[in-house]
Amino acid sequence: GPVILFGPPGAGKGTQSKRLVQALGVPQISTGDILRENVAQETGWGKQAKAAMESGQLVSDFIVCAMVAERLGKPDTSRGCILDGFPRTVAQAEWLDKLLTGKLFESTRVSLASNLPPVVISIKVDYNQLLQRLTGRRSCPSCGTIYNVYSKPPKVEGICDLEGSKLVMRQDDREEVIAGRLKAYEQQTLPLEKYYRAQGRLFEINGDAPVEKITEEMLSLIEHGN
Ligand code: AP5
Ligand code: ZN
Repeated sequence: GPVILFGPPGAGKGTQSKRLVQALGVPQISTGDILRENVAQETGWGKQAKAAMESGQLVSDFIVCAMVAERLGKPDTSRGCILDGFPRTVAQAEWLDKLLTGKLFESTRVSLASNLPPVVISIKVDYNQLLQRLTGRRSCPSCGTIYNVYSKPPKVEGICDLEGSKLVMRQDDREEVIAGRLKAYEQQTLPLEKYYRAQGRLFEINGDAPVEKITEEMLSLIEHGN
């Protein structure tokens, strides 16, 4: 079934998603990436989401769910997918449950019919570590590789190892915005753990371990959880 990567900003959802895509051959669906793309292209959704994203608040459930519905409707999700950063509110989780059980759109149920309920992996990292990860993150606008000036620097400072593009810092990785993002996580997203724990679908993982070790643990959880 779909794998939900759950965790605070900077926990490593994006980093691990890219590795799981390689290992499992299913697509990554990152609501953050889809939103940033919409903002950059100034679409209707992007214009509505921009202010919330810049201030570190969550975008409305309505917009985010509409984007996910559209993305899940594409044929490449029929064998599963990695949901990165979705759901993040109880309302989004309830919506997803309805979608997966065919209570929203018949066609989506058909394409995901072979899948079992989601496996939810909660990545645990302590607060100070999160701050350092977010302020140190740099990413490649061409290939999407995620670096960190502290833990995973590129070979040449500020330049992607793969094709030499100039690395960028995310707008919302400024210190003033980070605090707001972490607060939104605690208040609106953390309650979701309880929701999935009650369904027996929640697995917790220590996100302070080396990247490779976390991927291995996730793969074995996914194998057994499915
Ligand atoms: P989104 O893009 O989802 O951001 P986020 O949740 O804040 O998560 P990040 O991307 O910051 O962190 P990550 O966990 O992916 O960490 P990464 O792998 O990069 O959302 C952005 C905004 O969009 C939200 O604020 C909201 O406005 C909106 N939004 C998105 N989804 C929404 C939804 N469902 N509902 C409403 N609004 C929504 O790693 C971070 C750094 O740490 C990197 O530098 C990496 O190299 C390093 N690192 C990773 N793993 C390790 C490790 N094991 N050891 C050492 N360093 C590590
Ligand atoms: Zn690159």
